[in-house]
Amino acid sequence: MAKLTVPAVLEMKRAGRRITALTAYDAPFARIMDDAGVDIILVGDSVGMAALGRPDTLSLTVGDMIHHAKAVTAATHNAMVIVDMPFMSFQVSAQKALENAGRIMQESGAHGVKLEGGGKYADRIRAIVDAGIPVMAHIGLTPQSYHQLGGYKVQGKHGDSARHLLADARAVEKAGAFAVVLEAIPAELAATITETLHIPTIGIGAGAQCDGQILVMHDMLGLSDGPHPRFVKVFSDLRAKVKEAFGAYIGEVRDGSFPAKEHTYSSLAESPLKVVGKKKE
Ligand code: KIV
Repeated sequence: MAKLTVPAVLEMKRAGRRITALTAYDAPFARIMDDAGVDIILVGDSVGMAALGRPDTLSLTVGDMIHHAKAVTAATHNAMVIVDMPFMSFQVSAQKALENAGRIMQESGAHGVKLEGGGKYADRIRAIVDAGIPVMAHIGLTPQSYHQLGGYKVQGKHGDSARHLLADARAVEKAGAFAVVLEAIPAELAATITETLHIPTIGIGAGAQCDGQILVMHDMLGLSDGPHPRFVKVFSDLRAKVKEAFGAYIGEVRDGSFPAKEHTYSSLAESPLKVVGKKKE
């Protein structure tokens, strides 16, 4: 399989082939995901909550994102790797957004960036795209603005806010985004946006009519603390499986059954440790 490109993603929408996306923040999971055939891996700023124990995404820096993205790109052969632009890396100005997007691309080896916000950041999207860097937009519930939104709430439920989101979707497409994440919006609105745009919509809590879906890996693997929003489906309860493995290890160490013979080096006579031990005698 060849590396997924922006034209190929656009073609998937035209051909009606659903796009699969997941977040990853390290090499082992990125490798498994890539082997499984996921189309897009997002190094999301959700890493703050999912893997770093932080209360929200606001404290993540460009350096943090690059650190995780490097691990993901090193382990990925086929999927397109997109990196979230963290809080305050693009809000200040188009110039700063371009510089940070360029740094993320150069230092991480990613294939594009994602940024939260609609029409008001169209100039940032345009500046980055004009430099040849693919941009995935993100509208609806934008976690970097959760203080202003009053929490992690469904967006676009009523007339004005729905119209505003449709306008945002059009604006990010016009600015050159190659795809747009729709987070926590009514399925009907997501369907309208999906029909209206030429670029693919990637939904998370936006219903089944989007061109693709994304979930936070730790949520769908049952590795994150609940309660989860209703859009999360837990595909495997890894927390229980991992806990069981840890418990088995603790038990075997305590009762002496691990390490067994097959986990143990022999030929003690040739062991340097034995020689050192002998000298001491
Ligand atoms: O940071 C993230 O993981 C995201 C996805 C939820 C889309 O932005």
